[in-house]
Amino acid sequence: MSSIIEDLITRKVFNNRGEETIEVDVITTNGFGRASAPAGKSRGKNEVVYYPQGGIDEAVKKVDEQIAPELAGLNADFQEEIDISLHEIDGTTNFKGIGGNTAYAISLANAEAAANSHSLLLCQFIGGTAANMLPYPLGNCLSGGQHARGKAPDFQEFLALPHGATTFLEAQTANTSIHRRIGDMLKRKSTGFNGGKSDEGAWIANISGEEAFETMAKACEEAGNELDFECGFGIDCASSSLWREKEEKYIYEQEGRKRDTAEQIEYLLELIEKYHLRYVEDPFHEEDFDSHAELTKKAKNCLICGDDLFTTNNERLNLGIRQKAGNAIIIKVNQVGTLTDAADTIENAQRHGYATVVSHRSGDTSDWHIAHLAVAYKCPLIKTGVVEGARIAKLNELLRIEHFLGSRARMADLKLAW
Ligand code: PGA
Ligand code: ZN
Repeated sequence: MSSIIEDLITRKVFNNRGEETIEVDVITTNGFGRASAPAGKSRGKNEVVYYPQGGIDEAVKKVDEQIAPELAGLNADFQEEIDISLHEIDGTTNFKGIGGNTAYAISLANAEAAANSHSLLLCQFIGGTAANMLPYPLGNCLSGGQHARGKAPDFQEFLALPHGATTFLEAQTANTSIHRRIGDMLKRKSTGFNGGKSDEGAWIANISGEEAFETMAKACEEAGNELDFECGFGIDCASSSLWREKEEKYIYEQEGRKRDTAEQIEYLLELIEKYHLRYVEDPFHEEDFDSHAELTKKAKNCLICGDDLFTTNNERLNLGIRQKAGNAIIIKVNQVGTLTDAADTIENAQRHGYATVVSHRSGDTSDWHIAHLAVAYKCPLIKTGVVEGARIAKLNELLRIEHFLGSRARMADLKLAW
């Protein structure tokens, strides 16, 4: 079996928002891998740059003329070597040279090509025979904030978490049931609701934040009763988009309220207690490590997760570890560019007791790689939508992995995370 890279083929494709993105094929002597890059809408300030100045066209040209000749002849099995080469060719600290999304597509396609060269699934190739743990799906059911157009709740995402499920199939069944129930409830409740959904397939409705919490809680309870296991939920506040630096306040436009940092902490603690929230992402703006630390200390049985706060960046995570800010971290490989960079962050996070949450982006393709990354790196949670093609591609791949593992498959132990 040989995994020597013979060629890279690059093209422009589209994501679920209809935005152009880059796709790369890596061809080895005995294998093939293909990956296309996702794109965020509520991006963290510390993410790498997606494309060089000339956009995707320049990125494609760079792969054809510069990167493919450099990588040809290298062994795809050695992911770190490939990813170091990408950094060297780029020559900047934030992938401004070749583009972080270019690096992402090459890095993931390379990993898949290596696995394929050995006739292994990606999760097996990376994680070995120990890779038998399925993550719980955090499913986006209701959208607001920057992910909504028009009037909607101020928080960006309301996420179902069926933590009592004993298989991934049960978990996804619960999430689809919760999602469906919410749609039905919104139809009954809001006259203006016409079935609109976000890019991630979450419902968008002109309801208040409080109504959104109540709807989620009711749908989770009903689904849990029907399926006979506990279903909870969490939120992504995406607080950087609520924060106004000048006023030093979080602006809740729909609610017509402003909260300073102390009020924001109080408000979130109330919500965590009232709705038994299991997961709160980006509760404060991305530079406020102190408040993240305070909430982490005070919140009970709830993951406090950093997305924009950490941007999958190991140095940012180290700041968090030092201050005990958060106890969970979102892993979006294209926030840092390569699989090796993301794997380093995952390893560091897990060593320091942070729950790792592999995540899609709001603009995504039907790529399924993150399903394998969650299993390979033993991440207890995966964040995606519940419906919509780009999300279903990942969820169905997890169902295939669970089926493939058979009696060896088991669900992550969330008690360890809480
Ligand atoms: P994205 O954000 O639009 O940048 O993908 C999703 C999130 O904040 O988790
Ligand atoms: Zn987020």
